[in-house]
Amino acid sequence: MTLADFASRTADTSVPLLPALAERWSPRAFDATTPIDEDTLRAALEAARWSPSAANSQPWRFIVARRGSEAFDTIVANLQGFNQAWAGSAGALVVAVAETVDAEGKERRWATYDLGQAVAHLTIQAHHDGLHAHQMGGFDAEGLRAAFELDEGFVPVSVTALGTLGSADALPDVLREREAAPRTRRPLEDVVVVNA
Ligand SMILES: Cc1cc2nc3c(=O)[nH]c(=O)nc-3n(C[C@H](O)[C@H](O)[C@H](O)COP(=O)(O)O)c2cc1C
Repeated sequence: MTLADFASRTADTSVPLLPALAERWSPRAFDATTPIDEDTLRAALEAARWSPSAANSQPWRFIVARRGSEAFDTIVANLQGFNQAWAGSAGALVVAVAETVDAEGKERRWATYDLGQAVAHLTIQAHHDGLHAHQMGGFDAEGLRAAFELDEGFVPVSVTALGTLGSADALPDVLREREAAPRTRRPLEDVVVVNA
């Protein structure tokens, strides 16, 4: 992918946004030769740690696996095929796990909301620091729960690929086309349903 292609991924926003918000996008072309930058990975996880949560319950856990580790291969093995096709080139894979019940066994109603917000902070910090992030829902949650011996009440919700942008040439045809497809969103007027 050329620098011009990369620039074209920037969101066409109706008003200016923070650069990391406008420029973040979800690539599938990761550079399989560059190891994850440890300081940047730590900063991304730190951003997740400092995100807000209901009653400061912090109902998140992260399984962090660098490419080349056994844990990384285990996560890749539990991805659905359309994600296995590209995510193995990422520098690290992060399984986001929600703690859905508290110590008394009571449901944590906001657990997945809080976890998603933590991952959002993670991706924005990562992008600001020069990493790309791509979240995935296409994976075998029960497979990951068994592999990492997660207790009941801990639910794998997403897997995020983190890494350095690579060449799209290595991707299968259909994914290479998606890599360059325009990024679109519904108009703001359609999603703000009341604007009194
Ligand atoms: C919860 C969630 C699940 C997703 N699952 C997948 C997935 O399994 N495979 C994939 O390639 N992309 C997946 N995505 C990425 C979205 O398709 C992507 O964020 C969306 O198309 C918008 O593109 P952008 O992030 O480049 O703006 C997922 C994103 C989220 C937030």
